[in-house]
Amino acid sequence: MTLKDDLSAIVGDAFAAEGLDRGLGAVKTADRPDLAQFQCNGALPAAKVAKKNPREIAQAIADRLAGTAEFSEVSVAGPGFINLKLSDAFLSAQVDAANDGARYGGWLHETPEKIVIDYGGPNVAKPLHVGHLRAAIIGESLKRILRFSGDEVTGDVHLGDWGLQMGQLISELKLRQPDLVYFDAAQSGPYPDEPPISLKDLEEMYPVASAASKADPARADLARKATKELQDGRPGYRALWKHFVDLSVAAMKKDYADLDVEFDLWKGEADADPLIPELTDDLKARKVIEESDGAQIIRVARESDKKEMPPIIFVNSQGAVGYHATDVATIVDRKRTLDPDRILYVVDARQRLHFEQVFRAVEQAGYYPEEQLEHLWFGTMNGKDGKPFKTREGGTLKLRHFIDMVTERALERLKENGLAEGYGEAETNEIARQVGVAALKFADLSNPRTSDYIFDLDRFMAFEGKTGPYLLYASVRVRSVLEKAKNAKAGDPGAIKITEDAERDLALVLLNFADVLRETYEKRMPHILCDHAFSLAQAFSKFYASCRMVDEADPEKRASRLGLASITGGQLDLVLSLLGLDAPERM
Ligand code: ARG
Repeated sequence: MTLKDDLSAIVGDAFAAEGLDRGLGAVKTADRPDLAQFQCNGALPAAKVAKKNPREIAQAIADRLAGTAEFSEVSVAGPGFINLKLSDAFLSAQVDAANDGARYGGWLHETPEKIVIDYGGPNVAKPLHVGHLRAAIIGESLKRILRFSGDEVTGDVHLGDWGLQMGQLISELKLRQPDLVYFDAAQSGPYPDEPPISLKDLEEMYPVASAASKADPARADLARKATKELQDGRPGYRALWKHFVDLSVAAMKKDYADLDVEFDLWKGEADADPLIPELTDDLKARKVIEESDGAQIIRVARESDKKEMPPIIFVNSQGAVGYHATDVATIVDRKRTLDPDRILYVVDARQRLHFEQVFRAVEQAGYYPEEQLEHLWFGTMNGKDGKPFKTREGGTLKLRHFIDMVTERALERLKENGLAEGYGEAETNEIARQVGVAALKFADLSNPRTSDYIFDLDRFMAFEGKTGPYLLYASVRVRSVLEKAKNAKAGDPGAIKITEDAERDLALVLLNFADVLRETYEKRMPHILCDHAFSLAQAFSKFYASCRMVDEADPEKRASRLGLASITGGQLDLVLSLLGLDAPERM
């Protein structure tokens, strides 16, 4: 239950007592915060039904509510709006109840679900680049939000480790080093534990291999053949494949760790491959699959379609398995191993058609209900020219360099602001990484997921305004206030006793957390939580500027204000962590 739910129930009771529908008591945040904190507009529809004057009904409800412990003021305005202000005693008690050191008033999903969230989607042998950034940032945040809301969530990186790019790599290496034991068809292992090439070689080889396979039909043929042999299980190729995956995964893990992104599962497309023959037979037997020009296809178009919906190619005419089929098989694999209530995909908007096709195919096959699959697509991070972000030279920027770049810039900014000084090199660098990554993540998350946005590091990195660095700084500041109070022997945080406007405003933001979290959860939109973090930091700033804390003479007020500071710090840090932001201890 959120605060608005509680208030709606109380006002609903008053409607019921007037012989009217309880649901009319729905309470929302006031449109005019200068006049009220909350309002209920239920008297207007009630008047229509009861054929009465809405102001009269509103007044009757207001009379019933006046004098209850929850409200200090209930008045009727305009055509029949009921304006509500909470009593200080009620507000104080609510804040006290939220100050539990754990949930801070956060909402809990009444019927928790078991969820798989598929995000990241990096490809083996290709270094992570900025295109993978949004999936990682948004996915990590949603994973944490859902988990905190009570769901049982498994995050899966879903590696792109299967398909043609693997055949391209193998055939490229074979041309370069034909004598490697992996290519000896007469051998079937064992193969060396050490990879035959380094990660650097692998990353150099990939673009060469992929370009060659595009430009030269003979090379494309070699790549396709190698892919097919790999998929059919040729031991030397499997061993090479394993080396490639291991090298890549080690590098990816480092990059993701620097972004504070963590996966529960490191499975990939290849893990679904063993299911394909069985699924193909089943789908054929039940006539879900048809043959077309030697390929096995599933038609997913529907009569109601307004756009073109091409069939998916499950197995191509050469017998190779593509991206659609591995996604179908992965759903079956997840169903068998984890049996989730829902599978979420955090993948960019360009794959909307792909997921629509896959979701329809599994529904048609009876493998998994379409309505339990969600493609949470996102827009593009663009450069200042409005086109997808590139390096100055026009290439895609590696994530590694990107993280270094934001860290460096954060270091400069910290210095300019006289922050993080005299802490020693290791701590300073770690603070810079946290600030840089927070700037990037918050900028990304604070835009609605489905919008494109423009990468503007100077704006993201500012210590004022709605930015990651501002929020980290706010968190550090709350902690330093509490620290200062401790050193000044100002006593412990105590029971909340609200008396000032700035305290009321802060309390209302704190108590709005449950509603915010529910909306963020239901819409799968972290920007709503970003707005909350910013409101909270701002409300605290105003409170801190207008209310004495350590030097407040009245010990009850002092304890209450320290209490407000402590719950604000707790909730702010919680919200930051749900966004995937790591606040430094000090700055
Ligand atoms: N590896 C894919 C790519 O780079 C993204 C994978 C997304 N997840 C999925 N289940 N298809 O485009």
